[in-house]
Amino acid sequence: MKVDLYERIWMWGVAVMLAVFFASTAAAALGSQIHPPSHVETIDPKTALADPRFRRQGVTLDDRGRVHATVVGLMFTWLPVELTLPADTPVTFHLTSVDVIHGYQIVRTNGQAMVVPGYISQFTTQFPPGEYLVACNEYCGVGHHTMASRLHVVAKDQWQAPAREATNVQ
Ligand code: CUA
Repeated sequence: MKVDLYERIWMWGVAVMLAVFFASTAAAALGSQIHPPSHVETIDPKTALADPRFRRQGVTLDDRGRVHATVVGLMFTWLPVELTLPADTPVTFHLTSVDVIHGYQIVRTNGQAMVVPGYISQFTTQFPPGEYLVACNEYCGVGHHTMASRLHVVAKDQWQAPAREATNVQ
């Protein structure tokens, strides 16, 4: 088969570009441990609200005193709608969805993650005191624009830590 020289140059060019793209993705994932905001933890979206990891939403402290925020996204709200967090303290967010893909964007901060049914998105960040808007930034249906929540970030000494061994309220 006769392939024109000019066309052959383009075919090789495309092959080299694809090889570079795949190699750079593999190098970032395997070499630099750069992953999406998650640690690839999965969950069944149909039973997520009954799952021990998400049965109780809101703020918790673990036994090492670290702050965790557990949030479930569903059309068209976040559970819980408001969180009160301590300022200048690392907070690890654990997010999942029970229906479609949502986006958890803490506006004007670096806190943001896609919230994908079947997966738990996780990231850790901290904030100065203030009021923060959380917007859904993935189009999820007719009520997408109403899907918002608030974070109240208060000075650490004014923050009321949740009871560590609180019983699950269902
Ligand atoms: Cu949820 Cu858009």
